[in-house]
Amino acid sequence: MTISKLARDIKESPTLKMNEAAGKLRDRGEPVIHLGAGEPKSKVPLDAILNGAAKLTTADIRYTPTEGISSLIKAVVRYTEESYGKVISTKNVIISNGAKHSIYNLMVTLVDPQDEVIILAPYWVSYPEIVKMVYGKPVIVGPEDGRFIPSIEDIEEAMSSYTKAVIVNSPNNPSGAVYPEEFIAQIVELCEKKNIYLIMDDIYHKLVFNGKQAVSCYKHAKDQSDSSRLIAVNGVSKMYAMTGFRIGWTVANTKIIEAMINVQAQNMSCPSVVLQEAAAGALNGVQSGVEALRLMLQNNRDVMVNELRAFTGVKIIPPDGTFYCLPDFSAYRKDSVALSKFLLEKALVVTVPGKEFGLEGHLRLSYCGTVKEIMEGVARIKWALDPDSPNEIYIGDRRYRRDWK
Ligand SMILES: Cc1ncc(COP(=O)(O)O)c(C=O)c1O
Repeated sequence: MTISKLARDIKESPTLKMNEAAGKLRDRGEPVIHLGAGEPKSKVPLDAILNGAAKLTTADIRYTPTEGISSLIKAVVRYTEESYGKVISTKNVIISNGAKHSIYNLMVTLVDPQDEVIILAPYWVSYPEIVKMVYGKPVIVGPEDGRFIPSIEDIEEAMSSYTKAVIVNSPNNPSGAVYPEEFIAQIVELCEKKNIYLIMDDIYHKLVFNGKQAVSCYKHAKDQSDSSRLIAVNGVSKMYAMTGFRIGWTVANTKIIEAMINVQAQNMSCPSVVLQEAAAGALNGVQSGVEALRLMLQNNRDVMVNELRAFTGVKIIPPDGTFYCLPDFSAYRKDSVALSKFLLEKALVVTVPGKEFGLEGHLRLSYCGTVKEIMEGVARIKWALDPDSPNEIYIGDRRYRRDWK
């Protein structure tokens, strides 16, 4: 029996790989600090719990329409108008099992074999793999030197007659960068000029710091009609800390949504009704939790940036959103996979290698945990890498000596 070539070509998720390695160490009782996490630890909004539980207690749990329940779809319509000033109809929305599933179904819907999808580095690890899963070709455009954003000229140069779509993720995982308004205006114009789909992955768009705003592509779109090639993906995972609920959505023109409904009907029928009710509860309920999370992350970001600035060899561009940063550690080691492994072994700190996000020499560090974890995690990294830091450190109740150069 053989495994398909497609499945063999799909990379193991680097974050899951690190989680597994950390889990093994934890099982042995080692005091691991996780700076690799991709989910906030705050509580799920009460309105989500109450709505989901109310549905569950009816004991009447069935399939829903493939595109999702109408209360959640209406909530997304309202959310889109409130967040972007973009008026859409219920026919422009489909609910899926998380934004990742939305992006997968979208790719099945848009991409023919050999079509190219432009991905801006640094990028979320799943984009290239999802494109490959539909037999498309990911085309990676790297950032300008010392920045986290590619130039419009480089993006245009990467476009060919096979280019089907560009994915923009701002605020960005892994860099935390919020793309400037000028860039957004230019990419919208370019995609409209060339009739290319522009997919905005807006999963972090409410998690932005110090009064900044992630400018939406809708703001600059000339085509506001129902044939627009602008597509927005979002979900409840990050802003409501509801990663385990697996609810995401796509907003697109009706033709795309109709085709996506057919795709979704054949690959999962519909998302769970209980979880859709919970997501509707979150979107329709009290919103103060989103702001509380944003403020907590902003404070954590400040702590992380301050700690990293105490490192002579580390270059950091402070993130303006998300709960990640992507400092440059290449002064210590150019190979980020080896560096990440080294830090887990020696300092018991989980990081994610920048190479996995298309930016070698960097490490992605999350600040969605506690301030204590951030401070201790960075202190351990500093001890392991910086020869000027004290030679000894306590990790848990054990004393460690640095005996490497
Ligand atoms: C940029 C980006 N898009 C999409 C997702 C997927 O989110 P969901 O949990 O809704 O599938 C993630 C999750 O880490 C992400 O970082």
